[in-house]
Amino acid sequence: MTLRDFIAEAQKLGLLIDINKRVDPNLEMAPVIAALDGRPVMFNDVAGSEFRVLSGQCSDRRHFALALGCAIDDLVFRLADAYSSPQTPPLVSRSDAPCQQVVMSPPDLQRIPFLTHYPDDAGPYATAAIAIVNDPDSGPNVSFHRCLRLDATHLAARIVERRGTDSALKKTPGDLPVAICIGLPLHVLLAASMAPPPGVDELAIANALAPTSVVRCLTNDLHVPAEAEFVLEGRITHRTVAEGPFVDLTETWDIVRQQPVIEIDCITHRRDAIYHALLPGMLEHKLLMGMPREPSIYAAVNAVCTCRNVSITPGGASWLHAVVQIDKQHADDGRKAAEAAFRGHGSLKHVVVVDGDIDLYDPHDVEWAIATRFQADRDLMVWEDQPSSSLDPSATHVPGQKSRSAKMALDATIPWDRPDGCTRLHEFQRVPFPKADVSEYL
Ligand SMILES: Cc1cc2nc3c(=O)[nH]c(=O)nc-3n(C[C@H](O)[C@H](O)[C@H](O)COP(=O)(O)O)c2cc1C
Repeated sequence: MTLRDFIAEAQKLGLLIDINKRVDPNLEMAPVIAALDGRPVMFNDVAGSEFRVLSGQCSDRRHFALALGCAIDDLVFRLADAYSSPQTPPLVSRSDAPCQQVVMSPPDLQRIPFLTHYPDDAGPYATAAIAIVNDPDSGPNVSFHRCLRLDATHLAARIVERRGTDSALKKTPGDLPVAICIGLPLHVLLAASMAPPPGVDELAIANALAPTSVVRCLTNDLHVPAEAEFVLEGRITHRTVAEGPFVDLTETWDIVRQQPVIEIDCITHRRDAIYHALLPGMLEHKLLMGMPREPSIYAAVNAVCTCRNVSITPGGASWLHAVVQIDKQHADDGRKAAEAAFRGHGSLKHVVVVDGDIDLYDPHDVEWAIATRFQADRDLMVWEDQPSSSLDPSATHVPGQKSRSAKMALDATIPWDRPDGCTRLHEFQRVPFPKADVSEYL
């Protein structure tokens, strides 16, 4: 489903909040979006800009289910299928590419309503910016990079070390051509958040999720989704500047680092383009970070036991915590599932393994499983000094090195006291009340 179709559908279902009052992207808009977290919001009158601003279209699993036309429980399987069978996107001509309807002349980033979120931020940031580059060895790579606006044609981008964009830049002696796309269909955003092995194009994963045509950029050979609202064509240079302060996924200040400067040569956009503002640390950021890791955890766990589903939970910043649901068939399946989950997502810090009767999307139900099935001296696993996420403020961070932290798993599955099962099974099962029709009593 295109972004425009999603907006129309969300409007029809009464999900979209339209704001017609003039709102300033400098410090005023972010608190409004935060207060409406979980709902898509359209700002129709943006101070200082001719463009509208949309936020929150990815802030609920229901929105992804709507965009992909499937049930929430099936999202992990849709993502896993697309991940394992990418399909090269069709190339269309400029006349069929809405993203090239208008060429902004001269290119001027100040006309695009980047948001400043906090008074102490380094400046206005593009936060739903998808950078497309070509790795000299492995081909196209697509990933999110927040971009600080420096002036009309320069950005500073946070480029995490040892990932696709960083390794393409390190292999390129001069400037690395880049296309930064903003305002994309939900399935393209999901694909861009994945980290497939080098050589697998995230846009081919997007095209396996839903039809995604691409068009060649006007000033370089990169291919971008034809449906994008904005495309910023330019070059990532080897010049660096201080990037930050910026509040990131964990809702805490990220470290200020020297990061690459991007020079913008050309900006194209749709007629009446819509700018996507993604609030760092809020549900939209969390879901886009976490959901694409669920299929890789699922695959890793399923390789050692029967995995039913995986949820990366918002309470764990949708990056550091997961609940893994298994069909236990051996006494040590819980332990094996936990170990595998860490292999499936290297940034994971804490894992809870539960049985199939636990609702893995309900934190109360997961806590109930811990309360009634888990004993710390038997079911707790701790690993010291492991490679970990750069986003965890409590981890050990040494510049230039991988961050390190302890990791922990809780096996909250029903304990087995025999090789083939549990003799006290009924003691661990919740006793439901028969369904009552309360209307008879009110
Ligand atoms: C909303 C969002 C914002 C992100 N911001 C950044 C960022 O600023 N810099 C970065 O390097 N990665 C960022 N990421 C993570 C990368 O997009 C993600 O790790 C990606 O899968 C890396 O893929 P690659 O290894 O193929 O490059 C962000 C992810 C999301 C979902």
